[in-house]
Amino acid sequence: MTLRLSSPLDMHIHFRDEEMLKLVAPLTAKTFSGALIMPNLVPPITTKEALLSYIKRIKEATKEQADFEAFVTLFFQADYSYEFLEDIKDSIIGIKLYPAGVTTNSETGVSSMDINVLRPTLESMSKLGIPLCVHGETNGFVMDREKEFMPIYESIASAFPDLTIIMEHITTKAAVDLLDKYPNLYATITLQHLIITLDDVAGGMLKPHLFCKPIAKRPEDRDALLHLAISGHPKVMFGSDSAPHPKHKKEACGCAAGVFTAPIALQVLAQIFEDNNALDNLDKFISLNARKIYKFTPIEKTITLIKKDFSVPSSYDGFNQTVVPMFANESIPWSLK
Ligand code: NCD
Ligand code: ZN
Repeated sequence: MTLRLSSPLDMHIHFRDEEMLKLVAPLTAKTFSGALIMPNLVPPITTKEALLSYIKRIKEATKEQADFEAFVTLFFQADYSYEFLEDIKDSIIGIKLYPAGVTTNSETGVSSMDINVLRPTLESMSKLGIPLCVHGETNGFVMDREKEFMPIYESIASAFPDLTIIMEHITTKAAVDLLDKYPNLYATITLQHLIITLDDVAGGMLKPHLFCKPIAKRPEDRDALLHLAISGHPKVMFGSDSAPHPKHKKEACGCAAGVFTAPIALQVLAQIFEDNNALDNLDKFISLNARKIYKFTPIEKTITLIKKDFSVPSSYDGFNQTVVPMFANESIPWSLK
């Protein structure tokens, strides 16, 4: 049995920089037609100069794959001027907002989610048609952070009805329930949140390679996400949030947040949609919806998967880096042709 995927897109991924970029970017460029690259480098991408040089480094790292396009984002600052955003608009696909301190490399994110503090940048983005990607978590109790963020999504969505707002990597039924309440709210869902709950992370032996932000939640949350994704709902896109960290930073006392799924994402998604008799909706989740939401036509690229076991390697190595993927040392039923 084979499966042909046309121009798959990963609408939320971390490519990092330097050696890690060189190791991980080609893995995505091989199997995806395009990907939305997050800007949480150290320091984050906040200037045109930093953005253009990052684009150059990504192009260099993926130069073997001419049929791949990276869509870059800018790191949200509350005081970007209209002129700056107007000038940079054509080089970016969106702007990513991180509340300060909620996840990896978000220390310089916004310290207040008060709509009046955010207003200048949001107003310009809305006028210029630049989508807003949001890491929607408060600094509250870890299991409640996303749910507590819902009123903030509501206030932004109602104050800026023309602004496209993407609730990134949603993990709760609360977010699923909010999605249809505002026409300008959209969402991405990761691979791991369709599969695991907190039990898989910390219910038995602690699994550092499944630890990410937002943390995986309860079975009813996972079920709501799965149901939404396999339904082909038009406001939902695949965004892996593949977030590589060197092995020694994951298998450590003080484990970095992030699950590395880039090289196995499409194969496992095929399995999930197949198991749920929803293969007909896979293209919507991994490509068609994103094209409409972000209004672009991706590079044409067909990826063929075959029903044949793939032994996931224990790690991906190169450029002095070692990263452990989800399902390391396990076998998955679909392979890349
Ligand atoms: C991401 C990272 O490592 O950059 N980590 C994560 O757990 N998802 C940041 C993020 O998207 O929250
Ligand atoms: Zn992310």
